Amino acid sequence: MARILTGIQSSGRPHLGNILGAILPAIELSRDPHNESFFFIADLHSLISVKDSKLREEYVRAIAATWLAFGFDTDHNVFWRQSRVQEHTEMAWYLNCFTPYPMLANAHSFKDKSEKLSDVNAGLFTYPVLQAADILLYDANLVPVGKDQKQHLEMSKDIATAVNKQVGHDILVLPEARIDERLMVIPGIDGQKMSKSYGNYIDIFLPEKDLLKVIKKILSDSTPLEEPKIPETDITFQLYSLIASDEQTTEMRENYLRGGYGYGHAKKALHELILEKYREPREIFDFYMTNPDALESKLIEGEEKARQVAHKTISRMREALGFGS
Ligand code: TRP
Repeated sequence: MARILTGIQSSGRPHLGNILGAILPAIELSRDPHNESFFFIADLHSLISVKDSKLREEYVRAIAATWLAFGFDTDHNVFWRQSRVQEHTEMAWYLNCFTPYPMLANAHSFKDKSEKLSDVNAGLFTYPVLQAADILLYDANLVPVGKDQKQHLEMSKDIATAVNKQVGHDILVLPEARIDERLMVIPGIDGQKMSKSYGNYIDIFLPEKDLLKVIKKILSDSTPLEEPKIPETDITFQLYSLIASDEQTTEMRENYLRGGYGYGHAKKALHELILEKYREPREIFDFYMTNPDALESKLIEGEEKARQVAHKTISRMREALGFGS
């Protein structure tokens, strides 16, 4: 039995890149009856960048609604908001005291972000420690994450090893990252990696017309309608083929190669495909966004389960470190 754990920061509404790259693969893993999945919303992490509480709450709801929209089974798994389980912050403090300063100062993610952001706060610096707390608190074995999180997972392991060494036995489980190397980078509407920070993302939960507006903005070259086009280098085709069935992709490839098929046609097809393929998730998402009480009760249920597990680990830590249990 493997315990899978992963978190998503609530620093925006989830977009197609998050869904294809993180949410769907994690839900797939959670369907294996040999696994037990712990999926949470990293809302404490998002305080580093999102100070507006209304906005942050909306993002939290959108992420929770997305997990549910894509069928995450909260009866058999655990689903919660990090901020509602106080053990995360207590654990983070203990782990801070086992984290060498240079390890944080040399982290890629910190170096990149601290050069770009205007608000470089201590939360940004200790981000990986809170992440280690998230993971170690639940004795997670496997952590499905994107490539960019590889170093954070290495740090979690190093921190756990330092604690185990200090207390003289293995009170913390060493987690393994699960990085899906096959997963291609999901392009945004400008061809760069789809990311909230580049503003090039597709929000599949937008109303039909707004969704179409975004899709129409996908960058394309100026090959005239009559002429054949190269499918593989075109962003609309790339996005279409990530969602479509093999037959649908083959058909669109043939249309491109034949000529007489414009980028406008392809964009319309992508719009229709998103609406058709994600019809049910869109409905469930809207249901939870307009019924916050239903969403809240799912989260509260999960938080009770999460707290029980976290409480056991924190008691073990308190005792081992000499703070009573
Ligand atoms: N750092 C992760 C990201 O930005 C989010 C995260 C926070 C996380 N805590 C975690 C992921 C624990 C996995 C496990 O994607």
